[in-house]
Amino acid sequence: MSHVAQQHAPNVVSVVRLGRSLAAEIQGVDLSQPLNEASFAAIHHAFLENEVLIFRDQDISADDMMSFGRRFGPLSIHPFSPTMSDKPELIVLDNHRDNPPRLTDIWHSDETFRETPPLGTMLRSTITPRIGGDTMFASMSAAFEGLDDRTQKFLSGLEAEFDFKPFRTLFGNDEEGRRKLHELEDRWPQLCHPVIRVHPESGRKSIFVNRQFTIGIKGMKASESGPLLEMLYGLANQPEYQFRLQWRQNTMAFWDNRVVLHYAIHDYHPQRRRMERVTIAGDKPFGVDHPYGGQLVERPEIELTDADAPPDATAMPVRIFKRD
Ligand SMILES: [Fe+2]
Repeated sequence: MSHVAQQHAPNVVSVVRLGRSLAAEIQGVDLSQPLNEASFAAIHHAFLENEVLIFRDQDISADDMMSFGRRFGPLSIHPFSPTMSDKPELIVLDNHRDNPPRLTDIWHSDETFRETPPLGTMLRSTITPRIGGDTMFASMSAAFEGLDDRTQKFLSGLEAEFDFKPFRTLFGNDEEGRRKLHELEDRWPQLCHPVIRVHPESGRKSIFVNRQFTIGIKGMKASESGPLLEMLYGLANQPEYQFRLQWRQNTMAFWDNRVVLHYAIHDYHPQRRRMERVTIAGDKPFGVDHPYGGQLVERPEIELTDADAPPDATAMPVRIFKRD
């Protein structure tokens, strides 16, 4: 059976690898319909293997996306983003001439100032700019694997300190603003996560610091932790660890916040870009000293050859799962 025929067969979920270190496209599912167990299991496994999943042409409702999100766990509510009053789990990001994008053009993992940062984030485009507005992803498990053994060992015992620092700019410097900020500081105090996180479902080790929310390394002077953190942040800039998503209308991305950093490129203003976001609650990160009981989920082997690319070079299914 040819690749193209496989992708359009009605009874299979296809997983097409998109990047060398991360990302795959899921084909053959319509997220407006409930997924059976076999399809969900295939997608869940692909999520662990590929760290970022892309679903194209998903003209679905917010409720559909929320239902799909709940298959992975309870949804969480962002402490600072405005949400719809009737759907507090849904965030609508609507950027246009009068509402330029802000705070997202920096490498980060969502809400890592929380004790239990999200498992993952689903983002669906409903209006896309003609030019720009891509999202970058970086696999921090691939970045960890790229470090030499000594550096891996050195980092593995460390803990990093986190704060909701960028959101501090949302509050004015008047009495009301300061009162609100103090309230939030009590609610979301600074805390620590391991610098090297062990993924609770795949066992992969990854670098769990990010420029947006990390403020230091526990027990280290700023003069020492600063350059070390800069080195780690810089790994996300390495193209070999990246995947760049060009959105189209009704593209949905689902990324694993436990292992991936992302960066929204602010190059499209004043064009409009409207997105819907659902966030899945996660667990408390643990480090290498915590025994991981499961099986290691390996990065998929990609069959690359030196033969000429086929006419449709994207038709490269890595895994085909029968739906029933
Ligand atoms: Fe984000």
